Amino acid sequence: MRKKVSIVGAGNVGATAAHWIAAKELADVVLIDVVEGIPQGKALDLLEALPIEKRDVNVTGSNDYAASANSDIVVITAGIPRKPGMSRDDLLNTNFKIMSDVVGKVVQYSPNCILIIVSNPLDAMAQAAYKQSGFSRNRVIGMAGILDSARFRTFIARELDVSIENVTAFVLGGHGDTMVPLPRYSTVAGIPITELMDQATIDRLVQRTRDGGAEIVKYLKTGSAYYAPSAAVAEMVEAILKDKKKIVPCAAYLEGEYGIKGLFVGVPCKLGSNGIEKIIEIKLTPEEQAALQKSADSVKELVGVIGV
Ligand code: NAI
Ligand code: 2OP
Repeated sequence: MRKKVSIVGAGNVGATAAHWIAAKELADVVLIDVVEGIPQGKALDLLEALPIEKRDVNVTGSNDYAASANSDIVVITAGIPRKPGMSRDDLLNTNFKIMSDVVGKVVQYSPNCILIIVSNPLDAMAQAAYKQSGFSRNRVIGMAGILDSARFRTFIARELDVSIENVTAFVLGGHGDTMVPLPRYSTVAGIPITELMDQATIDRLVQRTRDGGAEIVKYLKTGSAYYAPSAAVAEMVEAILKDKKKIVPCAAYLEGEYGIKGLFVGVPCKLGSNGIEKIIEIKLTPEEQAALQKSADSVKELVGVIGV
């Protein structure tokens, strides 16, 4: 039997994630949204592309969570995206209400699923979903680090004019202005970028990574990025469904790792069929640790506002 992935929120990120997942033939996909007709229409359109793409998965859409029953993974993208001038944090109260409503329904129909949270502000929304679902921490994962690292990798590859296949990068911390790109652990063919670029260049690329979401919002004006975010979702889905034991940065509920307790923060995680199978603790310099703590403090502030 094929695996089943439901995606709540059939907007830009949700529908494009469905596209990547179907194109990779990873699972049957169910799109759920509050707006009548949107999940049904987008699902049917995508389904009708699959004979051309030669992919045997089913794609359906519904406004009723019963359609999502017994999913292996549920991706939550429901909520509002930011517009120019807004930070991710401005979405807090609206998206918290939506997240609470959605998680209750998801858990009712898929009590054994793994949750991948996408809605912003990411770390606070992951924490809200974790608390409300009552799931163990390995089954609630926030998507941000793969996206932020992909942006950093793109900028490094373009700067050095090398294949993106040669570039690995790590961005830790909360998905916000205080995120922590780690140049020491970012490499080109195994060579740390600190050996390949001067500090001013690295600082410029780090800042562009931090501003990566805002850069896209400024162009789009009516919403935020969705191709790279949804590709990041698909990478997480693939790692879990294929039990790949892949190490990628994700937002995870920390219980003392990196000196942080009771909070979702982006850290390197091993993803496999049990969700987060291990949190990898890498050695940080005092400056990197301080930057991670600062980022965690800003997540803590948001979590305090919504009381989760
Ligand atoms: P969008 O506006 O295109 O789609 C959101 C969808 O959620 C809409 O179709 C809307 O009808 C639906 N929705 C709203 N309330 C709902 C509810 N109660 N139940 C079910 N569906 C509901 O927005 P987009 O661009 O897809 O972004 C979605 C969220 O993901 C935003 O909060 C955005 O900030 C966040 N995001 C997070 C990223 C990350 O790195 N973690 C990256 C990109 C976006
Ligand atoms: C991004 O980084 C909006 O959080 C989203 O593009």
